[in-house]
Amino acid sequence: MSFGGLLALDQVDFQIGAGSITALIGPNGAGKTTFFNCLTGIYIPTSGTITLNQPSGPRQLHGLRPDQVTTLGLARTFQNIRLFNDLTVLENVLIGCHCRMKAGLLGALFRDRKTRAEERAMAEFSYQLLDRYGLGGAANELTKNLPYGAQRRLEIVRALATRPSLLLLDEPAAGLNIGETRELEDLIHIIRERESLSVLLIEHDMSLVMSISEQIYVMEYGRVIARGTPEVIRNDSRVIQAYLGEEA
Ligand SMILES: Nc1ncnc2c1ncn2[C@@H]1O[C@H](COP(=O)(O)OP(=O)(O)OP(=O)(O)O)[C@@H](O)[C@H]1O
Ligand SMILES: [Mg+2]
Repeated sequence: MSFGGLLALDQVDFQIGAGSITALIGPNGAGKTTFFNCLTGIYIPTSGTITLNQPSGPRQLHGLRPDQVTTLGLARTFQNIRLFNDLTVLENVLIGCHCRMKAGLLGALFRDRKTRAEERAMAEFSYQLLDRYGLGGAANELTKNLPYGAQRRLEIVRALATRPSLLLLDEPAAGLNIGETRELEDLIHIIRERESLSVLLIEHDMSLVMSISEQIYVMEYGRVIARGTPEVIRNDSRVIQAYLGEEA
């Protein structure tokens, strides 16, 4: 992916196994968020391919719009929380459900019986998701009144409402305290099991990355400089120099 003269991603080769938890780390400006933006149709990569394996066979994602990518099973959260602050918590999740609704424009306009039944089912499903992930009691609160940690959690629940097979989390622990980060780690494990999905997370919190990941990819200046298990990455001299060294 290049922006004018800047090569933001260069020959990035990535494989995410079904049901795995993979982390993407690297210094600021390495290209991590740009990679998510390419996967989710926000940017169209200048070259290359992105393939999503589905039960029905492999699908090319390159060139698809964000809503099309979502429908195929990729959901994400953003580095800076992007929720509808003036809507309720439940309404934010309902928006996530929308891509799975069958009712077309006519159904939505005239709200026939089938559409109303579908809306009720979506509301029920959204409420169950909130309840399952500890936000049921806040369903009717205005989103802006939620504490920061709960807003981060709500973003994840909204992403789940699209029923993804791959969940992309961009710095989910940013701004969380140690206790909340530990809860996030449990939450990610539970989500992976219950929703049968794979997780790819961008994260700067090294203790979270090292304890949660099965595979870690390290990027620097738009290139993947290392990949492997936490053990391998921890001992990779290039990684220590490029990234972990900064923390020391
Ligand atoms: N739309 C754009 N136009 C021009 N340059 C961009 C654009 N998006 C990203 N870049 C550049 O691409 C590079 C990678 O940015 P990116 O946001 O992907 O980094 P990052 O690894 O997510 O960093 P951080 O850890 O700070 O979030 C940066 O140099 C950034 O300025
Ligand atoms: Mg980023």
